[in-house]
Amino acid sequence: MRTVTKDNITDVFTAYFGDDTDPRVREVLAALARHIHDFAREVNLTHEEWNVGIDFLTRAGDITTPERQEFVLLSDVMGLSSLVDMLHSTPEATSSSVLGPFHVSNPPPLAIGGDMKGDFEGEVLLVEGTVRDTDGAPIAGAKLDIWQTAPNGLYSSQDENQHIHSFHGLMTTDENGRYAFTTVRPVSYTVPDDGPVGDILRAAGRHPWRPSHLHYIASADGHKTLVTEVFPDDDPYLDQDTVFGVRDDLVMTYVEEPAGSFPDGFDLSGKVDGPYSRVDFDLVLAKA
Ligand code: BEZ
Ligand code: FE
Repeated sequence: MRTVTKDNITDVFTAYFGDDTDPRVREVLAALARHIHDFAREVNLTHEEWNVGIDFLTRAGDITTPERQEFVLLSDVMGLSSLVDMLHSTPEATSSSVLGPFHVSNPPPLAIGGDMKGDFEGEVLLVEGTVRDTDGAPIAGAKLDIWQTAPNGLYSSQDENQHIHSFHGLMTTDENGRYAFTTVRPVSYTVPDDGPVGDILRAAGRHPWRPSHLHYIASADGHKTLVTEVFPDDDPYLDQDTVFGVRDDLVMTYVEEPAGSFPDGFDLSGKVDGPYSRVDFDLVLAKA
């Protein structure tokens, strides 16, 4: 096939593979080339338009650092991160959702009943739940790595006024699989939109908002690690999360509890006089 045409170029691409190409690499690359070629033919891509694309990729590379990964953000706002999640989630387990770039390694331990709110302003949120396996048995000793933004909508790694560990904690479930902590009610916030991915959002007439959420990485021996989030059912951005992370089983009611009803067994017991909110979020982990 010496003469390459616009119609046979995908077959030519496939014919150029070496005989000993790894079969999975061959499958993925051949499909990628097929879709890229079909895409260019379908929209009749012009040189000018593709130059905009190359410029976009160049700018995404230029802005990317270990703290600011523009390609992951691109994958997030295009829905690819969420699609890959959903392709590999276990139906009987809690749905997975996007990790995002703001998890920190080595989060500080948080005892059951501990508090992440500290001196930050905002409504106290009591979060409680049980980690179970797909047969309904509680998982003792499961690790829950939990994080969220401060009330200003910024994660600790985005905000020089926060300690890197603020609003991050690592909890271990008790013998009944239970976990519980207090924090501040999370807020809706925008993903970083001051780079090339922000240009895509604006070009598409989209906003950069995510509904408020708490992030979890749940892990336990003999079980698949679950990366997920929990959302309140009254968030205005629930139906338009810019990174497509919302799943029905991750949406919970944050119940308003009256003044004077804060329970015992928490670091904040005896210190919360006014109303507070409460959310129960159980997690189900698939067997490994
Ligand atoms: C986050 O939820 O932290 C997040 C997810 C995707 C992109 C940016 C932030
Ligand atoms: Fe987040």
